[in-house]
Order: sequence, then structure tokens, then C-alpha cells
Amino acid sequence: MSKTLIRGAKVLGGEAQDVLIDGGTVAAVGTGLDADGARVVEADGRILLPGLVDLHTHLREPGREDSETVLTGTRAAASGGYTAVHAMANTFPVADTAGVVEQVWRLGRESGHCDVQPVGAVTVGLEGKQLAELGAMHESAASVRVFSDDGKCVDDAVIMRRALEYVKAFDGVIAQHAQEPRLTEGAQMNEGTVSAELGLGGWPAVAEESVIARDVLLAAHVGSRVHICHLSTAGSVEIVRWAKSKGWNVTAEVTPHHLLLTDELVRSYDPVYKVNPPLRTEADVRALREALADGTIDCVATDHAPHPHEDKDCEWGAAAMGMVGLETALSVVQHTMVETGLLDWAGVADRMSFRPAAIGRLAGQGRPVSAGEPANLTLVDPAYRGAVDSARFASRSRNTPYQGRELPGRVTHTFLRGRATVMDGKLV
Ligand code: DOR
Ligand code: ZN
Repeated sequence: MSKTLIRGAKVLGGEAQDVLIDGGTVAAVGTGLDADGARVVEADGRILLPGLVDLHTHLREPGREDSETVLTGTRAAASGGYTAVHAMANTFPVADTAGVVEQVWRLGRESGHCDVQPVGAVTVGLEGKQLAELGAMHESAASVRVFSDDGKCVDDAVIMRRALEYVKAFDGVIAQHAQEPRLTEGAQMNEGTVSAELGLGGWPAVAEESVIARDVLLAAHVGSRVHICHLSTAGSVEIVRWAKSKGWNVTAEVTPHHLLLTDELVRSYDPVYKVNPPLRTEADVRALREALADGTIDCVATDHAPHPHEDKDCEWGAAAMGMVGLETALSVVQHTMVETGLLDWAGVADRMSFRPAAIGRLAGQGRPVSAGEPANLTLVDPAYRGAVDSARFASRSRNTPYQGRELPGRVTHTFLRGRATVMDGKLV
């Protein structure tokens, strides 16, 4: 059995401690631990976090292997400090059957770079018309608990109600991409002063907020669990805050890009900023940061959306929506939340590991850093400063909005059940 001693790491940002990994498990946490033949990682000053967990990753396999595969996507995840990702269902074919989710699950097991938990589609073909075989996907080897038509909204209230009722039986959750389709026909960016000036079709906040309002009410009515994907407006935050104050089973996520970027960037007409939901205003960014800090928003989810350059290096109107995020998420959170004093590192562990793992009901992930727990760990050097260079990404795609931008922090080591997937900043 291989042993690793991480020496002098600030566990969740607290006092420096040694952490001994033996096989796949954390064997001891303390001071002055004996190396006793273990490989030693000198961590002085670095932060040790539980392995990060992403609730919202587009791995693109099967069908769009030109933009990402399970192998390249999980390598990108490990580079970014993740030990588990939820693979979204909008693949080709759509992950709406036990066969497809099992295929993705099996590919994840073979990739070895992080755990892959497939998300099942809510409706057949993401078409919003007919419920997919939710029970069969849950009972499959992939044990699906999170269902989403992400990329599309489950806009039919009756279908949404039935889905919520169905997953209640096995403690599942519906992750809604909240976007009222009629209100966003032809929309290209956030509806506001910038869209008016640029003459681009606007995407009103109410298109997101009205669906969230309906769905928290439906979840309460049915007594089931709803999760709101990528909240992007101040109004959405208010609705989720209200739903939580009622004690309803509602959780929500925010992406790193919605914590940092605004629709002012669309003035460049650079499609790297084209994303769904769209970048919003400074006031929205402020509300999202505050909501993540106070726990109204449960977690950060990347919405890692790789696209090949031919789908992004074109005019704004024709470009695909989405940006890669796995390899920059932690740096953006450090920049927007930690260095602004809104969240400490224990808060980062909560919002990027404990809570997303709990929402997905993932076993063995999002666990405390203590003896007896699985050794899923991420070591971060918060003092590092460097420009983002997409040429160094493990992802197959390069569509990052941060190219050349200086961001703080760097993942130096990632451990998946005790095995290093990243060592000294390099994939193993
Ligand atoms: O920007 C986005 N891209 N938002 C989504 O909801 C889907 C995603 C994708 O699949 O490219
Ligand atoms: Zn989405």
C-alpha cells in the first residue's frame, strides 16, 4: 500500500497540519506525523481542501468528441482540483436511457482521473414532451439521482410536476435550466441597456425568474427536491431566498463566470462571452456573490461547456453558447469570493465540495478531511499568480473567457482515493 504524507498544509485554511494518506484513505491528521517511508509532499502554506465536486459538467461524450471526451474532460477536472463531476445529459444520443448513462458511467470508471456521475435527461430527447425512463436510469449501474434537460428548460408545468413526483421515490432531484422559451426566442445576450445599444436580441431576467418561481412552488406542492442550475440574476436569488425561508427543498448553483463577468464584455462582440444564461449586470454579480456567501446559493458549478473553435470563432449570432470552466473555477472563486473577504477557505470547501456532493448524494465525496475518510483531496497554492494560458489546458477545447488574464491560485496536487491525479501542478 502506498503512503503519502502531506506536511504542513492548512486544512480548510486553518492551522498547519500533517495529513497521512494510506492506500485510499486518510489515515491520520495531526502535527509532527512520522513520514515512516511515505512519499512526502511539502505543503508549507498551501490550503488543503476536500476534492472538489462539480454538479454541472458537459463532457460531450458520446457524440461530440471533437469538443471533449470523458477522458479529456476528467483530466481537465483533475487539473482544476475536482475528484468528481456530474456529466450533463445533452449528448448525442441524449442520456435519456439506462444504456447511455451506463456507457458514460463505464467510460468514467475507465478514465480514472475523477469520478463521473452521469446526469439523466428529464424528457426523451430533451424535447420536453415525454418523461424519460427515470426509474430505469436510477436502477442502472450508473445509479442516477440527478436529472436535467440542461441546455433546455423543462417548460411544461405538468411534465415538471410529474418528474418531481417520480424522483421523490428514490430521493432524486430535478436540476432545472430555468429559461422560459417564448420570452427568450432569438435572444443573444442579457436584456438591458447594453443589448439596446448593440441592437442584439435581449434575454430578460424575468424569463429565468418566472420559471424558478413556478418550480419552487411546484417542488413545495409535491414535497420533492428541485435544484436550480446556474442562477444569474438578483431576482432569482430573491426567489430562492424566499423558498428556503419557507423550508422548501430547494438548492441552487452559480457559475464562476456569473460571479465575475458582466454583459459589458459583449461590446467586444467576442463570442467567447456568449453563454446561456447570459452574462448579466454588475448589480446581478454583486447579488450572486452575496448569496453564495450567505448560503442562499448552495454551490459553485462550472457549467464547463467545451466547444470546438469553429463553433466559437465566428460571428456573435452564429456562435455556440458556453465556456470551459473546470481548470479556472477555483481561481475565479479565490479571486471573487476569498480575496474580497466574502468567503474563507472553509466556505470554499463547503460550496465547492461538501454541498454539491450532498445535493448529488454522492458517496465518498465531499467528506471532511479526517482519519478514516476516503482520501479525495486538493492542495492549492493560494499565493500563486499567473496568466491563464488555454494552450496548457487538459480540456480538448479552448473557449475560455480568461485567456491571458491574471488569476490567483493554482492546484498543485489532486488525490483521488489516495492516488495522485495531479502532482506538482502536472497531470499524472
Ligand atoms: O452556455 C451553455 N452551454 N449553457 C447551457 O445551458 C448548455 C451549454 C452547452 O451544452 O453548451
Ligand atoms: Zn444550462
